[in-house]
Amino acid sequence: MPTHKITYNAYPSPEALEALDQELLKAAKLALPNSYSPYSKFQVAAAARLEDGTVVTGWNTENAAYPMCICAEPATLAAAASQRPGMPVVAMAITVKSANHVLDQPASPCGSCRQQLHEHETRFEMKMKLILQGESGPVYVFDSAGDILPFGFSGKML
Ligand code: THU
Repeated sequence: MPTHKITYNAYPSPEALEALDQELLKAAKLALPNSYSPYSKFQVAAAARLEDGTVVTGWNTENAAYPMCICAEPATLAAAASQRPGMPVVAMAITVKSANHVLDQPASPCGSCRQQLHEHETRFEMKMKLILQGESGPVYVFDSAGDILPFGFSGKML
């Protein structure tokens, strides 16, 4: 039977990460208070490292009309695209903070975000490393955003 395996690294804490990844996660954590999440009280922030080394941050922005909420990941991709048009994102750190409890495990991107991260990778034909951590606890590192979207839809199918 065909199987699909996902390989990733799980580090016990950010200190175990390589320096650039540690720095990116720190930038995401610093951006958390910018989150506008009065409805869910679930802050999500991301920091993207671009190919030229620039770091760009973004966060979730909610709306009283709930389906209009903007997730942190596409907000960060959009911020990167406006600050450095045409420049690929090579790594993204994503972190969360809930007002309801301490999330001590990584919250992984929702399906829509995975699709948007995957599109970025296919557009630039470049892998985007993902660094995920909850408020505390282990850090998961995936070499490619596509790793968390098995059998993802791509423009090649159109
Ligand atoms: N959220 C993100 O920003 N990214 C995700 O991948 C999952 C969910 C936000 C949307 C909403 O503002 C809050 O988290 C709760 O769903």
